Amino acid sequence: MNKNGERLLFEISTPGASAVDLPECDVPEAEFDPALSTYTQSGLPEVGQLDLVRHYTHLAHRCFSVDGNFYPLGSCTMKYNPKVNEWAAGLAGFANVHPLQSEHHVQGLMELLYLLRMYLAEIAGLDEVSLQPCAGAHGEWTALKVIRAYFADRGQEKRRIVLAPDTAHGTNPASCAMCGASVVTIKSLSNGLTDLEDLKTHLSDEVAAIMVTNPNTVGKFDRMIAQMAEMVHRAGALLYLDGANMNAIMGITRPGDFGVDIMHYNTHKTFSTPHGCGGPGAGPIAVRKELSPYLPVPQVVKQGEKYAWDFDRPKSIGKVRSFWGQVGVLVRAYAYIRACGAAGLRDVSETAVLAANYVAQRIKHVYALPFGPKDGSPMASNPCAHEFITVPRAIIDRGVTIMDVAKALIDRGYHPPTVHFPVHDCLMIEPTETESKATLDGFAETLLELAEQSERDARPFKEAPVRQVVRRLDEVGAARKPVLRWTGAQG
Ligand SMILES: Cc1ncc(COP(=O)(O)O)c(C=O)c1O
Repeated sequence: MNKNGERLLFEISTPGASAVDLPECDVPEAEFDPALSTYTQSGLPEVGQLDLVRHYTHLAHRCFSVDGNFYPLGSCTMKYNPKVNEWAAGLAGFANVHPLQSEHHVQGLMELLYLLRMYLAEIAGLDEVSLQPCAGAHGEWTALKVIRAYFADRGQEKRRIVLAPDTAHGTNPASCAMCGASVVTIKSLSNGLTDLEDLKTHLSDEVAAIMVTNPNTVGKFDRMIAQMAEMVHRAGALLYLDGANMNAIMGITRPGDFGVDIMHYNTHKTFSTPHGCGGPGAGPIAVRKELSPYLPVPQVVKQGEKYAWDFDRPKSIGKVRSFWGQVGVLVRAYAYIRACGAAGLRDVSETAVLAANYVAQRIKHVYALPFGPKDGSPMASNPCAHEFITVPRAIIDRGVTIMDVAKALIDRGYHPPTVHFPVHDCLMIEPTETESKATLDGFAETLLELAEQSERDARPFKEAPVRQVVRRLDEVGAARKPVLRWTGAQG
């Protein structure tokens, strides 16, 4: 039994109970040599179907999810996944195929993947797309391999430096390190945009690329991006876009049009696919034609009226993923793009930006916006993109930490925004496009109420969360020494 009086699955186990009724055996029983058997008692609990359903339903209710609660998690966005995507991905022709089935058995699925390739190239304004990478970070890594192959082919192996602004997502430098590239940090200005003067001083014939997130992780669209592209190209390097934040710009502008050479998408942040806890996801990459010979194999291609897997790409960096990529996720992304249509995708971005600016506007008198408009000036003078950063210094000065605010939000039914990234003491709020005005208002009012509470008495914050199955966790311990199985001794 746990602290909340719930009996755990092992404790309700009754020998002989089963969740399924198997039909009577209708073939003669055969003897076989027990030495050939690998059967051992699994020790798994034995329970009836209803007890099993209740067990998992109770577990599911303990979790925060987009389907259950508002989830304004900036950067690693948890976007609502429309149920039509699940319906599409569950269709037998997609869900029941085997990766080793021959091409002519899966022409329908291959057509879908081919069309998705085309749509993603169009949205990016670039020439070719690989659907193989299976997460945003995997897309970064794959793209960096492509960049290296491109320069190696041109006898420029010495281009091993990758520049990244100090607001870059942590996966950017990590992917560089995994690829053997050294990372040099470029400063940001106080308005959150890349410092082009600093960039100029770091460009050289050893630089392979600059990795830019646009809109960036402080929620700003870098309007100088075309100028940045020009500077980088003049130095013989490439402009890489971490396209994780395409949710703010798709249908409005295209990376290829502002000078990007290569980019990745995060399908979970843009095309409403699931991606909890690091995967399974998809991180397709899009490139200019000069880089396409180096894309991973296989590539889904159209030959006449038929679709085929093309492995015959002599300059390819090779395979980066087993079989054909994260197909179930790609089907969901396709379903979303088709359901929205071109105008709908633009509408998604505009609504996501509007929602973020609306919440920022409602709370900015208490929750300061370090990268927002100057005091007193309207939001329109310096709007945010899909997300915004607040550093509520007044609340912090009353002895309430950002973590206290985050935990207090949990008790009020909200998943906390990202905290302490990309700057210390910040909340990074990303409402996304799917929330109603009433939900956005409720969230803004809750934040304001917490600010008032901090003025009256900071002590209750230290106790939060009090309405959840767990209180404050040792997050480092949970990551380093996770307890992943029932031992009977847990509380
Ligand atoms: C800006 C940015 N870049 C890269 C990533 C990494 O993506 P993933 O978690 O799919 O590896 C994320 C996370 O979603 C992100 O927000």
